[in-house]
Amino acid sequence: MCGIIACRTASPAAPFLVRGLRLLEYRGYDSIGVAVLTSGGSTAVIRSVNRVDDLANMVDGWSGQPLGGIGIGHTRWATHGAVTMANAHPHLDCTGRVAVVHNGIIENADELRHELSAGGHEFASAVDSEVISHLLENELETGKDLNKAMQAIVLKLAGTWAMVAMDSRDGRVVGTAHGSPLLLGHSAHGVFFASDVSAIGDWVDQFQALDDGDIVELAAEPVWIRSGAAPQPPRLWSADRSTRQGGLDGHPDYMHAEIDEQPEVAARILDELANGIPTGSLWRNLDGPAFERIAVIGCGTSLNAAAVVAQAFGRLGGLSHRSLVASEAVSAVIEPGTLVLVFSQSGETADIMRAVDHVQTFGASMLAVTNNPHSSLARRSDSVVTCQAGPEIGVAATKTFTAQVITGVCVALSALVAQGRLDRSRARELADDLRHLPDMLAQALVVSKDVIPSLVGDLVSASGFLFLGRGPGVTFAEEGALKLKELTYRWAEAYPAGELKHGPLALVESGTPVIVVDNDDRRLRGNVAEVEARGGRVIRIGSSGSTIPALGRSIDLPLAGGMDQWGPLESVIPMQVLARELALALGRDVDKPRNLAKSVTVD
Ligand code: F6R
Repeated sequence: MCGIIACRTASPAAPFLVRGLRLLEYRGYDSIGVAVLTSGGSTAVIRSVNRVDDLANMVDGWSGQPLGGIGIGHTRWATHGAVTMANAHPHLDCTGRVAVVHNGIIENADELRHELSAGGHEFASAVDSEVISHLLENELETGKDLNKAMQAIVLKLAGTWAMVAMDSRDGRVVGTAHGSPLLLGHSAHGVFFASDVSAIGDWVDQFQALDDGDIVELAAEPVWIRSGAAPQPPRLWSADRSTRQGGLDGHPDYMHAEIDEQPEVAARILDELANGIPTGSLWRNLDGPAFERIAVIGCGTSLNAAAVVAQAFGRLGGLSHRSLVASEAVSAVIEPGTLVLVFSQSGETADIMRAVDHVQTFGASMLAVTNNPHSSLARRSDSVVTCQAGPEIGVAATKTFTAQVITGVCVALSALVAQGRLDRSRARELADDLRHLPDMLAQALVVSKDVIPSLVGDLVSASGFLFLGRGPGVTFAEEGALKLKELTYRWAEAYPAGELKHGPLALVESGTPVIVVDNDDRRLRGNVAEVEARGGRVIRIGSSGSTIPALGRSIDLPLAGGMDQWGPLESVIPMQVLARELALALGRDVDKPRNLAKSVTVD
């Protein structure tokens, strides 16, 4: 999704901008660009509808006036207007004096464009963001400086924005935010704006987050304005190692690396959290409130992880629970006594932030389960638990799903103990079950890599896939179907297996692939027979004897029934591996599936 970086540095800005844009690549984008002040006081705008490498070559080959130490850059994920060079950011005003990068959506752009055009402004692009540069142009013409001009124009905008403008006349750079994140980073090289700490985390030591409405001038001593006055200096956060991206380390793609990392991620989380389960201390350290019911909120894969955790609260604590799709949560009534758990790996998803706005009107307690402890979600929640998955670069979530499930289940168990709803000795047994997960995930990886490549040839020409589960297996089937469709661009639907005969069975014909998450629910046998009777190609992910014998029961472990409470987490590994293998066989880019973005900052 769209990303911003801007800097004022002692050395040339362009290498920092290009490096930052490269670090933002994982979010997905269609075009890319920078605007840099030259030694002659002009603005050099360099844009590309290709990859960062193309932009880097154009910057290296720049033959105009030397590029200086002040610049702005952007990755664009098209919302308004096609993917063209003209629509790529940065956008200039009519005179070329001011350059702008913007994330978000200007909802009243059409009206503003109409007014500005009537006033003689000429637009070079079809994008909503360009109105910002022309509005600034009008204000600058009245003699205001860029800071004052920005204060004036934000009053005219509706929608969401994180934006940074640069004035070539005096080299001022000003940023502001409203419903979309923007950070100010401090380093020995200079000062930076970025929409995501990962864009600057390689060299920035500390950063501050802009609140909605803040206007900040990028300077050695930044000028910070909130509600027309200078606020108390906002909190400084450390850009710790966990915000820095690792390399491929011998893996063919990030998805491969991130699938493989899951046993290690699981072990890391359990080392940190599992001891706090039987004592309830994990929950008490989060300052968790008393609660009588649970609501979880998320989107996509994070919603699936959230649903697993909500069901675990229900099964283990007898609590009523519900899962809310973030983009629809605005119509939900949050009853008194509800604990709301918000799941978002990025913590920046716009749908999530709108849901948070809504939940907060009910005064409900909110716990964020996120992979980004510095995110907007984390900053707005009553308490935060970090998933510790490390940076996930592949657009399709893999290790963050596993991390969210394990983290969420640890919190659920600890909360139930702290509330007296779960016996300590039972909690100890269940924590021991969780501690087996790293081995079970590792075993599932071995089995998947062994078995799945030989299945791909038969499945690659299938036009659609069904995923089935029962009880705690259903949500994992849903996650398997989501992974398959986003990676392969093939239809995939998930159902509770009992629903098959109520409609979806009509889809099954000779050879239709039906993937069954077989967690030993006896009722599945009948459902499998129904599919086989119609010639469907059943692929069972289950214990020994299954097509893919990847579930923990196939290894000889003393389990105490935990897996029946939170479900067969290890089943997700073969489904991730299958989606990736099929996608590769179909020639897809497994790290950057088409049309998708990593951090979805528009709603
Ligand atoms: C699917 C996927 C998406 C995200 C969703 C929410 O593989 O990655 O479905 O899970 O966009 O994103 P976050 O967790 O950042 O809120």
